Amino acid sequence: MRRRIAAGNWKMNGMVADLAIVGEISAAAKAASCEVVLCLPATLIRAANNLVALPLGGQDCAAQEKGAFTGDISAPMLRDAGAGFVILGHSERRALHGESDAIVAAKVQAAWAAGLCAILCIGETEAQYRAGETLDVLAAQIAGSLPEGANARNTVIAYEPVWAIGTGLTPTVDEIARTHAFIRARLPDAGLSILYGGSVSPANAAQIFALADVDGGLVGGASLKSDSFIPIIHELEASA
Ligand code: PGA
Repeated sequence: MRRRIAAGNWKMNGMVADLAIVGEISAAAKAASCEVVLCLPATLIRAANNLVALPLGGQDCAAQEKGAFTGDISAPMLRDAGAGFVILGHSERRALHGESDAIVAAKVQAAWAAGLCAILCIGETEAQYRAGETLDVLAAQIAGSLPEGANARNTVIAYEPVWAIGTGLTPTVDEIARTHAFIRARLPDAGLSILYGGSVSPANAAQIFALADVDGGLVGGASLKSDSFIPIIHELEASA
């Protein structure tokens, strides 16, 4: 049985005043038959952890454990703040912060060493999608950014087509099914969960989560409000 996970990615959104939303999501998650994880800005993890029992995550970590890396946050620091997960290799980090596969792989190792579960993101750009390069890109990202030693406890894969993030566009269900099956065949452990991410909403969650190789979602915009994230959690439960 693979883990079924509804993960929220708040990106650079959220103030202490928004912790009420974390409380609402946590209340819904308590009764849920799937795992629910909220990846918050690092500034909110400690406060959220004091408030709720919900599993929390960061959205990036340094490859190094500590030292002269001004502005960076290490995996042990996330763990210390109460995180159990960390998103790594998100396309916004790859594009806006120049993170290569090698950098992402080093961060995954750092997350594992700190006892965090890495949510490793992979996905093609719109140009790569149009050029028919999706599967080649994903194979290269898996080979380059997933170190040896991944298992169902320490790693979750998130397939996020870059052109689907925050755009309201998604691949067709057939495309998602084919892509997830391709990814599954390239993972070292058949027990690893693969989440779909990119414009997941209450309206499209049911058909995406019904696919055999989709084990949940990584949800950006729709995770910022309980009245859109909670219905997505319910769709994941219903699809089991
Ligand atoms: P979105 O973001 O749900 O707003 O498209 C997903 C993500 O970037 O993880």
